[in-house]
Amino acid sequence: MNELDEILKFYREIGAGFLEYHRENPLKALNDLNREIGNCTKCKLYESKKNYVPGEGSAEPGIIFIGEGPGETEDNLGRPFVGRAGELLDKLIDRMGYSRETVFIGNIVKCRPPGNRNPLPEEVAACKPYLESQIDILKPKVIVCLGKVALNNLLGQNYSIMKERGKLFYFKDIPVIPTYHPAYILRQTTKDSTSKAKWDTWNDMKKVLEIVKKSR
Ligand code: URA
Repeated sequence: MNELDEILKFYREIGAGFLEYHRENPLKALNDLNREIGNCTKCKLYESKKNYVPGEGSAEPGIIFIGEGPGETEDNLGRPFVGRAGELLDKLIDRMGYSRETVFIGNIVKCRPPGNRNPLPEEVAACKPYLESQIDILKPKVIVCLGKVALNNLLGQNYSIMKERGKLFYFKDIPVIPTYHPAYILRQTTKDSTSKAKWDTWNDMKKVLEIVKKSR
């Protein structure tokens, strides 16, 4: 192993692997990071998962969507938001004038928590450096947190998504807009409540689009 390899290995071991990424080549940086995620054993979730789900999309997106963690379908396929909630998210992204290929979709944790439980604090602590590296590489103009788990684990807070959705927060100077998780919309049992949840989400996304427009 040459000296450079040893330095990079050291950075990886102390959880600062992102320091090695080539800032001028986000796609390569993302691919390198995905490989690192694909070898991760930092928390117990790697033992029960079928596939790592690092996230997917553009390496230079204006918008990043962050969910909480892979569900069963995502775990089976190794891709984020490909179940029923994902179908709804795809429709929302399409209505915003984007596609899966032009935004980035990720999660707080990259391995499925068993039974779709919320990720434990130690699992979030182990996985969050990967999300921070992704954000560092992707340099989005705005981050959308899908639901309370994403919002609170990104910002280290204990907010109510009902109260805070649509408001402007910041993560390391990057604007953050929280909205409902698409699964929340799917859980609504009446036409009226479904329609309200969808409109609320759309109003939040209008704020996201405004931020992108202003930052051009
Ligand atoms: N729910 C999430 O929070 N993330 C996914 O990837 C899928 C469903």
